[in-house]
Amino acid sequence: MSELRTRPVRPAALSDDAALGELDRATWSTLHSVQPRPHPPYEPFFSDRSRPEHLLVAEAEDPAGDMRIAGYIRVVAPTSLACHTHVRQIQGLAVADWARGSGVARGLLRAALALARNEGANRMTLRVLGHNAPARALYASEGFVVEGVLPGEFFLGGRYVDDVMMGRSLAL
Ligand SMILES: CC(C)(COP(=O)(O)OP(=O)(O)OC[C@H]1O[C@@H](n2cnc3c(N)ncnc32)[C@H](O)[C@@H]1OP(=O)(O)O)[C@@H](O)C(=O)NCCC(=O)NCCS
Repeated sequence: MSELRTRPVRPAALSDDAALGELDRATWSTLHSVQPRPHPPYEPFFSDRSRPEHLLVAEAEDPAGDMRIAGYIRVVAPTSLACHTHVRQIQGLAVADWARGSGVARGLLRAALALARNEGANRMTLRVLGHNAPARALYASEGFVVEGVLPGEFFLGGRYVDDVMMGRSLAL
């Protein structure tokens, strides 16, 4: 694993909008995204649906020596139903190319698990594309198991791709 100077994972702020938008566009790929490739004019990163309080960010020193956002994780309550408040769902995780392979995603994931636990949730879920081997390896190594597969759910890059549902308990 390569060495990277990092800061502790922190909650996102509205002022992170531009940096997060840039990171999102720079990391776009059919390996993980079901959205079309972004084109200008770009929408703001945050919206009524996606607010700063849903995100944790990791900062690290980039190759030019500047401390900046290296990755984020977005975790939401999957619905507003009272019978569903014990569940959190990861709906976004990305790490800049220059920061990969240094434990940034694992740090974000662990911080998100701890926060969800502190909020009283007892289960975390996510959806990952079947061909996204790096993300699947990360989730499996942090205790997530495959709970369901929608075969050939998306047509991406000329191929049908599975949508894989994973989940884990938040009990220690
Ligand atoms: C998946 C992603 C978030 C990993 O970020 P990262 O900071 O490089 O990951 P980490 O350094 O924390 O690695 C943690 C574990 O993930 C797995 N992993 C990460 N990159 C991998 C790769 N290229 N191939 C295989 N496994 C990989 C490994 O299990 C690794 O543990 P190890 O270092 O002990 O082998 C990053 O590649 C990324 O942003 N990908 C595009 C967006 C994406 O796929 N998001 C997930 C959507 S569901």
